[in-house]
Amino acid sequence: MSYLMSNYTPLAVTFIKGSGCHLTDDKGETYLDALCGVGVTGLGHAHPEISKAIQSQSQQLLHTSNWYHIQHQETLAEELCKLANMDGVFFGNSGAEANEAAIKIARLHAHANQIDKPVILTAKQSFHGRTMATLSATGNPKVQAGFAPLVSEFIHVEFNDINAIQAHQNNSKITAVMLEPIQGESGVIVPDANYLNQVQEICQKNNWLLILDEVQTGIGRTGKMFAHQYNHITPDVLTLAKGLGNGVPIGACLAKGKAAKLLTPGTHGSTFGGNPLVCRVALTVLDIIKQDNILNNATHMGEYIVASFADKLKSVDHVLEIRSKGLMIAIELTKDCSQLLQQALDKKLLINITGQSIRLLPPLIINKDQADEMINIICELVSAL
Ligand SMILES: Cc1ncc(COP(=O)(O)O)c(C=O)c1O
Repeated sequence: MSYLMSNYTPLAVTFIKGSGCHLTDDKGETYLDALCGVGVTGLGHAHPEISKAIQSQSQQLLHTSNWYHIQHQETLAEELCKLANMDGVFFGNSGAEANEAAIKIARLHAHANQIDKPVILTAKQSFHGRTMATLSATGNPKVQAGFAPLVSEFIHVEFNDINAIQAHQNNSKITAVMLEPIQGESGVIVPDANYLNQVQEICQKNNWLLILDEVQTGIGRTGKMFAHQYNHITPDVLTLAKGLGNGVPIGACLAKGKAAKLLTPGTHGSTFGGNPLVCRVALTVLDIIKQDNILNNATHMGEYIVASFADKLKSVDHVLEIRSKGLMIAIELTKDCSQLLQQALDKKLLINITGQSIRLLPPLIINKDQADEMINIICELVSAL
């Protein structure tokens, strides 16, 4: 009997340690991790430099409070702002909290512009988190089921359909558009190359904030530090989490220009957000990404993996399409494939199944041999389906 609430249905395996791209269970079996704790441990498990940073920081200072200056937080804020061309950062502990901050900023933006009952446009099939505001923002009825009344006012529009956003231009209550540059949880849905540029144009014309949720796509996952850099745009608000801490809980809401000035003393906060430990780790993550040319590896391994799948699966009829950007990859099938989760686990490979898609978020440090192992197992399973 478990004393845990039953909101998860874990597979029958318990990992007790990890190293690089691999995990080891309590029976001593080793697995290739092609999921990374859902896009978190991009730099691999037990990275020596990250372990060293955790150890050293834990011996110095874990926590004070945001009522005092925190040196690593200031440094991390500066580095993130320089990387993303932003002006200010609020630190929380998760993606949902980063998005909560973004939603609060959008509301403040509205009230500063005399909009009493602001509306935020978000996308159908999006995922923004599990808190009340972020599940209300999420465009998936399954995530919202049972939790009414939801936080108002979110309007969910078709993703990758610029007309669906344009259609709201005369709605004077709209204050922001909130989107994932690539929808992750709904199965790596990659929009048209200029979609975000068009959305930004509409936002700028109407004084709406463009909020990009890069909780999953950020920190190198797509081969660039941030996915929106493919579009050469800068959003007004940008949210990050997952890969930023490589396993320690951190979320960040970055903002630019007027949006960066809306949170004023007393309007928002978090006890743990931006503590010395997590900020030191995130700084180490950013250093490693730069030093080890991780973005380059993510781009090239992503291309290699997708080209290999395309080649090896070309004559498998039930493969509908392969979608990807960097190391965010989905193979959509024409039939149910939920059994592949356990079958892959039996072959010591960790993957995710989303609807009829196999979703892969391999480590950003994956090498060719590890990629080949993953490709071979998946092609074998898919072919036999
Ligand atoms: C795009 C996106 N936003 C927000 C979240 C929520 O992040 P967290 O689980 O850290 O609250 C997720 C988590 O999967 C996500 O993929």
